[in-house]
Amino acid sequence: MILLIFTLLFGLWMFQNFYWKRKGLPPGPTPLPLIGNLLSIDKLGLEDFFTDIKNKYGDIHTFWLGESPVVSINDVPTILETFVKDGETFAGRPTNMLVTDMTRHGRNGLIFTDGPIWREHRRFALHVLRDFGMGKNLMQERVLDEVSVLIDGVKKQIAAGEKEINIQDGIDLGIGSIINALLFGYSFNKNKQEEFYELKTHLQRFMRAVGSPLVRLCDRNPFMFKMLPFIYGDVTRAIKELDGFFMKQLAAHEKEINFDADIEATDFAEAFLKKRKQLEAEGIKDHTFTDKQLYGACLDLWIAGQETTSNTLAWLVIYLMLNPEAQKKVHAELHSVIGSDRFITVEDKTQLNYVNAVVAETQRFCNLVPMNVNHRLVKDVEIKGYRIPANTTILHQISTVLFDERYFPDPLKFKPERFLDSDGKFFQPSSLMPFGVGKRSCLGEGLARLELYLFAANLFNHFEINAIPSKPPNTIRIIGGTVQPEPFLAIIKSRF
Ligand code: HEM
Repeated sequence: MILLIFTLLFGLWMFQNFYWKRKGLPPGPTPLPLIGNLLSIDKLGLEDFFTDIKNKYGDIHTFWLGESPVVSINDVPTILETFVKDGETFAGRPTNMLVTDMTRHGRNGLIFTDGPIWREHRRFALHVLRDFGMGKNLMQERVLDEVSVLIDGVKKQIAAGEKEINIQDGIDLGIGSIINALLFGYSFNKNKQEEFYELKTHLQRFMRAVGSPLVRLCDRNPFMFKMLPFIYGDVTRAIKELDGFFMKQLAAHEKEINFDADIEATDFAEAFLKKRKQLEAEGIKDHTFTDKQLYGACLDLWIAGQETTSNTLAWLVIYLMLNPEAQKKVHAELHSVIGSDRFITVEDKTQLNYVNAVVAETQRFCNLVPMNVNHRLVKDVEIKGYRIPANTTILHQISTVLFDERYFPDPLKFKPERFLDSDGKFFQPSSLMPFGVGKRSCLGEGLARLELYLFAANLFNHFEINAIPSKPPNTIRIIGGTVQPEPFLAIIKSRF
């Protein structure tokens, strides 16, 4: 009898797992109970897993993270039809994210919130970024400050006779300084490099802790999380370190702000705290400009804004070292359009077609985000004949689009020319979507584009960067939240 009941329950469980829970969803690899497709992801690696399931199951398919299905869209027309045309429907974020919420003291910040709090704070952050970027052009000045520190540093190394130079760390520090100045008003390059390395160490430990596949599974499964106390310990320790760092920063910064003076804010934390003061002065107590929201927003802007741009620039340098013909074309263009060692600014941008094409091709070829951030459907939709219910996790998979032959012929080749028209003018097709599309597309796209262009143009205007014949850079991809290259050294010659 017991055996019969057991067999029956087991049969029902199998029916639920292999048929019922998948009913109506787009096809995809068979999930295992509790762990979903984790074994295949682990075996193939994230990138090959996504290419493999796209080839097998088509442009719209389903994979499973633990017990949660993720519907993935992989072709440009459908992505534009859904995420862009019907943006609001696709603008949610999954709600059952335990680790994410632990990290941000609840549903706070910019990346994983949705609804009114996300809308208000995304608008606020964009407004602050725009204020810094336009009018005063503060943003370009800040970026050029860091570009010039980097160039001076390399020139000193060349003058000191250094033959093998590490440019990657300088880029990393420069991009870290830009985001830190944006958030807290100061650059690490002004005698605070130790602080940068401390923060990087905290962040790396944190990303390692929360990025592990087991923790990703626990994110959707509190029961499992409690069963694995060593993972819980790792995550909470990493969160505590980051928390301590940012809270100290924010407390120190708040003391320096003159709330009485009618001076415009010059960093994000100051703008946020002033906004809070203003709301409270108007008698509005029930607002969302809380300490936890400020912490969540700063953490998100740091995480999303540092490693992404820094890794893309490191890849750009590697690709131009491995493709000397492309580097020669960059130098020829800079010689004819700029012709001196003056700073290159946004005013030169429309004339630097090949430089723009190199940045675009780098963003495509380095394919920085192996799995896009999950979205949540806020209502039922029908996509290509599949009825997908509200609250299903869904994403547009940037990484397969950027290597799709239909949009980028010969996708495994680094070919900046693909972004030049017959007159040699730079153009961007809608299939080039490294920042995502729709309502949740990258909030820092404007800043990232400015950084990529100003660093690339100025760096290669000043230098010729070549591979060391005995140890050229490799293209091994270290997969985390973004794709990082291995450390590399270069032979660098000054052009002026
Ligand atoms: C090369 C550099 C960058 C790349 C490739 C990149 C890419 C992305 C992608 C793919 C997303 C997710 C889109 C989606 O959910 O569909 C995203 C979101 C986001 N990015 Fe970036 N990003 C970069 C730089 C930055 C910078 C510099 C900042 C900050 C200043 C930033 C802040 C954010 C934020 C806050 C979000 C979440 C937006 C939301 O959920 O509403 N990113 N980014």
